[in-house]
Amino acid sequence: MERTFLMIKPDGVQRGLIGKVIQRFEEKGLQLVAAKLVQITMAQAAAHYEEHRDKPFFGELLEYITSGPSFAMIWAGEEIIQVTRAINGKTNPVEAAPGTIRGDYALRKGVNVIHGSDCLESAEKEIANFFTHEELACFLYPADPKEG
Ligand code: PPS
Repeated sequence: MERTFLMIKPDGVQRGLIGKVIQRFEEKGLQLVAAKLVQITMAQAAAHYEEHRDKPFFGELLEYITSGPSFAMIWAGEEIIQVTRAINGKTNPVEAAPGTIRGDYALRKGVNVIHGSDCLESAEKEIANFFTHEELACFLYPADPKEG
């Protein structure tokens, strides 16, 4: 099954939004494969946001993402990238639709509660940056979203 990397950023953790965010993905019928609270190191942050290293906000982004604990997760399901990005909403919370996580809980582009991988290839790189193979749960019988 396809999987992605999702991370509740320091603002979401500090505001006590972990439960609410997890609930949205669970209710959609996605499968939680791994989750942990992490204090991201500068090296991990720089690797995670490597493609943005030339952007003017890169320094600010690293400072923010290492400013407190984040909640790193792996989720699995059909069309996982498309589904999770729709639930997260647009990167800029001002443009994010109500009913999405960023639309409901965020106001600023850089402080937008959640990160989600933009494609399956990035997801695998991001998963490898934060999780070891032993930390992943293995479901013999994945939940059927049509039940419950
Ligand atoms: S860009 O320029 O369109 O490629 O950038 P974008 O895809 O919109 O954003 C990439 C990630 O950088 C974060 N971001 C910012 N952080 C701090 N300050 C500012 N001004 C800022 N602008 C964008 C944005 O939230 C994205 O983070 P992730 O974790 O991928 O959502």
